[in-house]
Amino acid sequence: MPAIVQVQRLIKNYYLGAVTVNVLKGINLEIEEGDFVALMGPSGSGKSTLMNILGCLDRPTNGEYILSGRNVALLNDDRLSDVRCRYLGFIFQSYNLLPQYTVVENIELPLMYQGKQLNERTRARCIALAKLVGLGDRLDHRPLELSGGQQQRVAIARALVNDPHVILGDEPTGNLDSTTSVEIMEMLISLNNAGKTIIMVTHENDIAANARRVIRLRDGQIESDVRNRN
Ligand SMILES: Nc1ncnc2c1ncn2[C@@H]1O[C@H](COP(=O)(O)OP(=O)(O)OP(=O)(O)O)[C@@H](O)[C@H]1O
Ligand SMILES: [Mg+2]
Repeated sequence: MPAIVQVQRLIKNYYLGAVTVNVLKGINLEIEEGDFVALMGPSGSGKSTLMNILGCLDRPTNGEYILSGRNVALLNDDRLSDVRCRYLGFIFQSYNLLPQYTVVENIELPLMYQGKQLNERTRARCIALAKLVGLGDRLDHRPLELSGGQQQRVAIARALVNDPHVILGDEPTGNLDSTTSVEIMEMLISLNNAGKTIIMVTHENDIAANARRVIRLRDGQIESDVRNRN
């Protein structure tokens, strides 16, 4: 099976006035469909920069990114957001929920952004996703009426609404206590067991131990890439 994510000689620069900041320095990476990758490395090593490119939220300065056989570097903004909707779900450290919307409405958001007609069928799907993440009894709560772990579960349900192939998480357990982190990890593991490819950033070794593969970045380059035993 070809890799779902193929990255070749990936370079990302930021330009601050006359200064070029070379953040990613030629990353080569292949990720198989169904894999579970933990991305680690010191602060500033380029993890979020890489995740944003993998998540089609940002573009590389140079190099190739082939997602499910498609060279996404060549797509215009509309096609890129189409690919993002169809293949990818993103979970952030700070949940990124809209405070004025209920749990179900937050899960519906990606559909709304795509201009999809919301109807009873889409509503039923979002309720089913809320139940899947254990929030069946919180459908009409707003984010501020939920715990951090519950908010992150809403974000996971929202990431699943388009049935993505790949789920990307940038420190999805970064704001959670250790018990709640374990809950969220169990949810990601069961999604991975159901066939979803997962790529997540973490600073915690015991969180990374749940992944199948651990990639470490240092100063914009891959320093190590190892498979966990279990
Ligand atoms: N928009 C930007 N403009 C200029 N430099 C940037 C920008 N975004 C990130 N950088 C720089 O790129 C480098 C990598 O940042 P990045 O956010 O990818 O690190 P990270 O590995 O995710 O760190 P952390 O663990 O702290 O989240 C940093 O040195 C940062 O200053
Ligand atoms: Mg980061």
